[in-house]
Amino acid sequence: MLNTLANHGYLPHDGKDITRNRTACALNTALNISVEFGKFLFDFAVMTNPTPNATTFSLDHLIRHNILEHDASLSRADFYFGGDAHSFNQTVFDETRSYWKGPIINLQMAADSRLARLITSNATNPNYTLSDLGSTFSIGETAAYILMLGNPKSGTVRKALVEYLFENERLPTKLGWVPSPTAIGQSDLSSMMERVVNKTGVTPEEAAKILKRADLHSGQAFV
Ligand code: HEM
Repeated sequence: MLNTLANHGYLPHDGKDITRNRTACALNTALNISVEFGKFLFDFAVMTNPTPNATTFSLDHLIRHNILEHDASLSRADFYFGGDAHSFNQTVFDETRSYWKGPIINLQMAADSRLARLITSNATNPNYTLSDLGSTFSIGETAAYILMLGNPKSGTVRKALVEYLFENERLPTKLGWVPSPTAIGQSDLSSMMERVVNKTGVTPEEAAKILKRADLHSGQAFV
């Protein structure tokens, strides 16, 4: 989405030296994300800047592996497979899309596609890693495309809109998409994330077995 916002000019085209205010303003103007939530999201982005106490980030900082960037993405190969975990990868996205049966993606399909990517990645990548923050981002990214492009009440989204965003890195305005009429805050994302996790339907024991996660002692199916 940040690439998309840079493509549209909401963020700098060169993706460099993005400030907190610029981030919040871009997310607010393009997507109706509340300014407060936009600033909160910036605080994650700035963690990826290797300069201590940085006050800006660049899009290429986000690529740094295992800070925010994580394995088992919906449309990117794992870093292990050649080191390019940031370019769109059709094969990976085709696996994700294969779970989106019909013109409307519902929460179950979204959860299934995310879980399938986790399982595939775990089975094929000997260096497979997913930190708690990576896991939170993975869940958040699935929740975010439903929330920003779809219907937050029903938890559904038109598949064409999601495919358009991923494949073109442009907002799907010409397919009839408009930003949410009400401001989107942190609690909206959190509740959508909870619904994604609930639909994932894997117990901690099953998750530990299939995903080799060592940190499932919290007792949550946090995959
Ligand atoms: C400052 C705000 C944001 C930051 C710092 C951020 C950061 C990131 C990063 C680092 C990734 C790569 C994760 C990976 O390894 O797959 C990512 C992916 C993603 N982001 Fe964001 N993001 C932000 C805002 C948003 C918003 C507003 C949306 C709304 C739709 C969004 C949707 C996604 C999606 C769907 C992916 C998954 C791509 C994939 O798995 O192939 N992001 N984001």
